[in-house]
Amino acid sequence: MGRLEPPRGAVIGLGMMGRHHARILQSNAAMRFAGAVDPGGDRFGAVRDGALLYDSVDALLSGAGGAPDFAVIAVPTEEHVAVAQTLAQAGVHVLIEKPLAATVEEARAIIDAVRAAGVRGAVGHVERCNPALLALRERVQAGQIGEVYMVGTERVGPFPDRVKDVGVVKDLATHDLDLVRWLGDAPIERVAAQTQHRMGRDHEDLVLVTGRLDNGRAFNSMVDWLTPTKVRRTRVLGEGGMLVADTLSADLYFYANAHVPTAGWPDAAARRGVAEGDMTRYALERREPLAVELEAFCALIGGDEDATVVSLEEGLETVTVAEAVLESARSGETVAL
Ligand SMILES: NC(=O)c1ccc[n+]([C@@H]2O[C@H](COP(=O)([O-])OP(=O)(O)OC[C@H]3O[C@@H](n4cnc5c(N)ncnc54)[C@H](O)[C@@H]3O)[C@@H](O)[C@H]2O)c1
Repeated sequence: MGRLEPPRGAVIGLGMMGRHHARILQSNAAMRFAGAVDPGGDRFGAVRDGALLYDSVDALLSGAGGAPDFAVIAVPTEEHVAVAQTLAQAGVHVLIEKPLAATVEEARAIIDAVRAAGVRGAVGHVERCNPALLALRERVQAGQIGEVYMVGTERVGPFPDRVKDVGVVKDLATHDLDLVRWLGDAPIERVAAQTQHRMGRDHEDLVLVTGRLDNGRAFNSMVDWLTPTKVRRTRVLGEGGMLVADTLSADLYFYANAHVPTAGWPDAAARRGVAEGDMTRYALERREPLAVELEAFCALIGGDEDATVVSLEEGLETVTVAEAVLESARSGETVAL
């Protein structure tokens, strides 16, 4: 790849997610658009130049512009593995939509294919690029709330009818399982989960997870496709108060514990617990998370080893935890990772 020009990227799968990748690839100066593949055509009118629309990955690879430098894989989760293998074998770097794959086995097969081909890979856990969550994490790491006690996430809302291949655990809760680990700063050590099947589909449509990280911090996640209003809320609670991110509006709030003087009377301090202090909403710089994600991936393939992408290994870890969540829901037992 010539480093003088921005890398050429293609989008595989022009559905709900792929169309946004295509929009950014066609408008962001840090990258060039190499085309898009969808056997179903361009349903959302996402591709400006019809000559760059292909009906198969093979047609893209042998197209006039030659193989792209990288591809964003935004096909249904069950198809990630086959598409990723084909592209990696053709020497194309791959940014794979979350979750990395539908099963741990397929996630491992993707990692093997990428390694064998010597290309770069990353997973599109785009929540990590949300400005509210980036600011939240920075503040936690700077010690604003002191010792962290727990991370809680809520991701509920109506069912997006297009998801056919996986349940809410793999489709949606993988966002949360990735965030909990990233914000809590340690791998997930154990999970206990409950699921519900209320819509008559093969897969679950509600999950409640509680668990613990390797560093002793607790977490819980509430995720469903049954709630008639959309909520995306992540909170981190610590000794100094609580930070809350709303990732729909990209807002970040801080609820401080009040300082209540109990000088010279330690027993009273212990009994009182926390008190309600001031609440602050921060003014944040808001950039589109997907553009931030794509720019980071372009930096990675351009040789920036510090580029903040989600590695394939982290993606595998998240799929592994998702399977443990399903296992816990099935068995009724807490599952250790
Ligand atoms: N990061 C996020 O927040 C987020 C949000 C939604 C979806 N996703 C992920 O993106 C992926 C796609 O989800 P979606 O909601 O866009 O699905 P979708 O069903 O809307 O779109 C998938 C598209 O892929 C096409 N397709 C199927 N097989 C193909 C193949 N072999 N080659 C090329 N195109 C093919 C289909 O025709 C369809 O247009 C999933 O892995 C999903 O988990 C991520």
